[in-house]
Amino acid sequence: MISVFFKTYGCLANVADSELLAKYMRGLGCIVAENESEADLIMINTCAIREKAEQKLFSYVGRLTGYIKNKPHLKVGIIGCVSSYRARYFFAKFPYINFSFGAKNDLNKLKAYIADLIIKIESEKQLIGSNVPFKRIKDKNITELVEKKNLKIPEGSKTVSDFKPGRLRRSVINIMTGCNNYCTYCIVPFVRGREKSFEMETILERVKSEIDAGVKEINLLGQNVNSYCDPKTGADFATLLEKIAKLDGKFWVRFTSSHPKDTSKKLLQVMAKYPEKLCAWIHLPLQSGSDDILKRMNRTYTSEQFLEKVNWINEILPDATISTDIIVGFPGETEENFKQTLDILEKVKFELSFSFIYSPRKYTKAAEMEDDCSYETKLQRLEYLQKRQKEVSRETHDALVGKTVQVLVENVMTNGMFFAKTAGNIRVSVKPVSIKSDDKDIVNKFVMVKVVAAREALVEATVV
Ligand code: SAH
Ligand code: SF4
Ligand code: F3S
Repeated sequence: MISVFFKTYGCLANVADSELLAKYMRGLGCIVAENESEADLIMINTCAIREKAEQKLFSYVGRLTGYIKNKPHLKVGIIGCVSSYRARYFFAKFPYINFSFGAKNDLNKLKAYIADLIIKIESEKQLIGSNVPFKRIKDKNITELVEKKNLKIPEGSKTVSDFKPGRLRRSVINIMTGCNNYCTYCIVPFVRGREKSFEMETILERVKSEIDAGVKEINLLGQNVNSYCDPKTGADFATLLEKIAKLDGKFWVRFTSSHPKDTSKKLLQVMAKYPEKLCAWIHLPLQSGSDDILKRMNRTYTSEQFLEKVNWINEILPDATISTDIIVGFPGETEENFKQTLDILEKVKFELSFSFIYSPRKYTKAAEMEDDCSYETKLQRLEYLQKRQKEVSRETHDALVGKTVQVLVENVMTNGMFFAKTAGNIRVSVKPVSIKSDDKDIVNKFVMVKVVAAREALVEATVV
C-alpha cells in the first residue's frame, strides 16, 4: 500500500487541489500520511504569490534530503503554482525531484499519471532489501507523457473522503481556476493560466455528496467567483449559489474572492434571500485606497466605486462582515497614497484584513515600474496599517457583545475552549463550562451562543 504525504502552500485553491488529489488517491487504495517519514510519495503543492512564499518552499524541499537518504524508493513531486514557471530550477537544484506539474495544466492529466506512478512505486517497494537499483524517474512534462503513453484515470475510480474526528467537516471546492484580470503586481494569471469555470452540474453533484457525507461548511473558490460561467449553460455565479442554497440539509456556504469590479447586486440579493445557508461574509480585496495606485495596479475600479459596492453590501445585507486584502508599498506609493488606503479602512471598518508588502514578481508589469520607496518605509506602513486594523477589528467585535448569534463549531483548542465561527466568519472562542446539557460534543454542530467579551482577533461566548 502506498502512503502519500501532501505539503500544501498557498491559498485555498491549492488546498482544494490537494484535497481533491488526496480523495482520488484514497480511492486508488493509497493512505494519506500525517507526516513525511511515513510517506512513499511526497507531493508538494507550491505557491508563487510573494517571494517569501517561494523561499519557505525552497528551504522545505532542501530539508527533504534526510528522508531521501533513508528511503531510496521515495518519490517527490512538485505541483502547483511555482511548478508552472520554475520546474527547471527545481530539477537542477534538487536532484531528487521526480516530477513536476504546473497549476496551469488539467488536473485530470496528473490523476492519470499518479495512477501509473503508484503501480511503479508498489513494484519498487517489493524490491526493498534486494540489490536491484531503483530507476530514476524524472518526468518534466506530464501532460505530454500522459498523452504519449495514453495513460487514463482508472475506470470506475472513486473519491474517498476522510474526515478527522474532533474537526469540522469542511469542503473546499474550486468552481473555477485561473484569472484574466492581470493586476500588474500579480503572478496568478501566469502560473494558473486563463480563467476556466468547471461545470455547474459536476459542482452541484459534488456539493450534494459532501452534504450527504456530513459536511457542514462548503467553501466555493475562484480568483474571482463573480466571473463564474457554467461552460455548458452559461449560468452565472449567483445562479450556482441559488441552486446550492436550495439543496436540502443544514449547512453553510462561503465563497472567496469577489473582485470588486464584478460584485453585483444580483449576487447580494441571492445571499439575502437564503440567509440560513449563504453566509453573510464578503471578502472584497481593496489592495489600495489610492485611485492613482489602483489605476497602475490595473484593478479597474476607483476608491469611490469600491465604497459604492460596500454601500450595496450594507444596504442589502445589513449584518454582513466585510474583509479585505491590502498591498502596502506598491512601486511609487507615496505617503499620501498610503493615507488614502487608511481612509478606506476607517470608512469601511473591515472586520479583518490581510496585508502584505508588495513583492516584485516575474512576468508582471509592476516588476518593471520604478520604485523609490524604501523597504524600511514599506515595513513601517505595514506595521501601522496592521496596528490600526487590530483596533478596528476590536471595534467591530465590541459591537457584538451581548448579542446572541449562531456559530458553527470547528474544533477544541489547546486551552480547552471550543473554536467556532459566525456566519460572518468572525472567530469565536466558546467556553465549555457554559454547556449545560449532556451533549458536550458540539464540534461540527451549529449552536446558539451569547457573545460575552471582545478581543482583537476573536470574541468570547457562552452557549445559550
Ligand atoms: N484573486 C484574488 C487574490 C488572490 S492573491 C483577488 O483578486 O482578490 C491574494 C492576495 O495576495 C491579493 O489579494 C493581494 O493582496 C496579494 N498579492 C498578490 N500579489 C502580490 C504581490 N506581488 N505582492 C504582495 N502581495 C500580493
Ligand atoms: Fe491576481 Fe488580480 Fe487575478 Fe486576483 S484578480 S488573482 S490579484 S490578477
Ligand atoms: Fe499562491 Fe497560486 Fe494561490 S500563487 S495564492 S497558490 S493561486
